[in-house]
Amino acid sequence: MRCGTLALVQIRAYRPADRDDVYDVCVRTADAGGDARGQYSTDDFMPDLFAGPYLHLEPELAFVLDDGDRVVGYVLGAADTARWAAEHRARWLPLVADRYPRATGPGPRTPQEDLTELLHHPERNVHPGLEAYPAHLHIDVLPEHQGAGHGRALIRTYLAALRAAGVPAVHLGMVTANTPARAFYDRLGFHELPVRVPGLTFLGARTDLVV
Ligand SMILES: CC(C)(COP(=O)(O)OP(=O)(O)OC[C@H]1O[C@@H](n2cnc3c(N)ncnc32)[C@H](O)[C@@H]1OP(=O)(O)O)[C@@H](O)C(=O)NCCC(=O)NCCS
Repeated sequence: MRCGTLALVQIRAYRPADRDDVYDVCVRTADAGGDARGQYSTDDFMPDLFAGPYLHLEPELAFVLDDGDRVVGYVLGAADTARWAAEHRARWLPLVADRYPRATGPGPRTPQEDLTELLHHPERNVHPGLEAYPAHLHIDVLPEHQGAGHGRALIRTYLAALRAAGVPAVHLGMVTANTPARAFYDRLGFHELPVRVPGLTFLGARTDLVV
């Protein structure tokens, strides 16, 4: 709904028609929070890793920020990361594997080749020691809508959905260099988790966290 030039920005459940907007938000925020357009073989590459499998496998856990014209942010994820990895291998990977073949030759890999390995091995998203934090999440808001409280509201919505599904706690892995995102999670009350992956930081929260 529009009122003069003021748009009502609202959070609502994801609908299949939102898919292209979610992909757009994803690629525009996929370079440690910055714009990743033009960095990979196709701008769908990062969304095919970090948005598509969730929209396809657990659409009921996806929520979007709608400014009245389009989707400008989202939160999405998986209620049970181990189950999601198995479903990813069975039902998502077959849809995209041909588009992103694994590197075969020797020598150092490009960033896209490294991430392609993750795509082909969804089980690598299951980290020992995180059994008490079965869910995980991804959240992104376009720059022009950041800093207005929408990220907090999206996390609140996501935690409520997990609580309703009986999930006790959630984790996320973030690029350590993304210090603005770290400040956001710290402010909301997430805590650091003991997972060691170079370049990444893992954070967690109980789903009854009040944000
Ligand atoms: C990280 C992100 C989701 C946060 O969403 P947001 O809408 O900008 O955050 P909010 O406005 O809801 O902020 C919530 C609180 O965190 C604080 N916060 C947010 N970003 C902050 C920053 N860079 N530094 C310090 N505090 C910050 C806010 O001040 C606010 O605290 P307050 O309510 O007590 O004032 C959003 O900025 C984003 O999408 N960034 C780019 C993509 C990204 O990095 N995603 C996360 C990948 S792990």
